[in-house]
Amino acid sequence: MSLLTYMDRPVPIAPGETVLEALLRAGIEAKSSCRAGTCQTCMHRAVSGTPPEASQRGLTEAQKAMGFFLPCVCKPETPLAIAPRDDAGARREAVVRSLERLSHDIIRLRIEADDFDYRPGQFLELIADDDLKRHYSLASHPEDDPYLEMHIRLHENGRMSRRLTERLAPGHRLHVAGPSGTCFYEGVDPDQPLVLIGAGTGLAPLYGVLRDALKRGHRGPIRLYHGARDPRGLYLRDELEALAGSRENLTYRPCALDADAHLRGDVAAVALESETGLEHSAFFLCGGENLVKRLKRDLFMRGASLRAIRADAFTPGA
Ligand code: FES
Repeated sequence: MSLLTYMDRPVPIAPGETVLEALLRAGIEAKSSCRAGTCQTCMHRAVSGTPPEASQRGLTEAQKAMGFFLPCVCKPETPLAIAPRDDAGARREAVVRSLERLSHDIIRLRIEADDFDYRPGQFLELIADDDLKRHYSLASHPEDDPYLEMHIRLHENGRMSRRLTERLAPGHRLHVAGPSGTCFYEGVDPDQPLVLIGAGTGLAPLYGVLRDALKRGHRGPIRLYHGARDPRGLYLRDELEALAGSRENLTYRPCALDADAHLRGDVAAVALESETGLEHSAFFLCGGENLVKRLKRDLFMRGASLRAIRADAFTPGA
């Protein structure tokens, strides 16, 4: 087996040579800047094999877990197969298993796709047609669920929304690509407080992360904040209340802008008001871009480490 493989193509690499030098010598286009392991411009991903420790210095735990590394300071000693950092993975065929309403405007889509390797909380690209693609986060768990689960907001007159509600039914075929994203539990210290904050269908990746944290025996406190405009958007509320009631270290705080006093609140404000000792916690933030930006900034200003914040911001895709 070749010491270095790029997208299934063997690439000769001389002793003492870096992966970046080998790629360039082979005529493969690879961006770079500092060539000293600091700017991260050259980042690639190992699809098999383990990158040397020195080539992952400065990366987050999530990036390391995903196999990211810096080719400009990587001198492999064991076989390494690599791909560009944003290579979303091959497109695969998928079959619709079920479509179910979770609220007045949110559906739960479950599909089956063979050999789709992912971590709960990552997202995939759902391809209904070549010109109809959307990204959705995964709420399912690969070790427990024989399907991929997404929570999808329906938009009036949205093309994907119409496709899902009018033309898709169990047994229909579509395609998926991915997964992508670093919003997953791996790399979190099981004893530290875990804070999950999201709005709308941002609950999907948080639900995946929460299930993974519980499955892996997270010992620190876990606090889940879910926000919506009105209480109908607080889907999975009964299930989450039951789960919180059965786990000593789990707190669930639903809040809606247009709700009675006991539920009323803006999810970001409620979470910021409730959380203390932010420097010790790990955060997962999922929701609209403005919410995620605001939370990131405010958490950082109050002492949270940016390295401890994982975020998945989305812009609504109809
Ligand atoms: S080129 Fe800067 S880290 Fe590799």
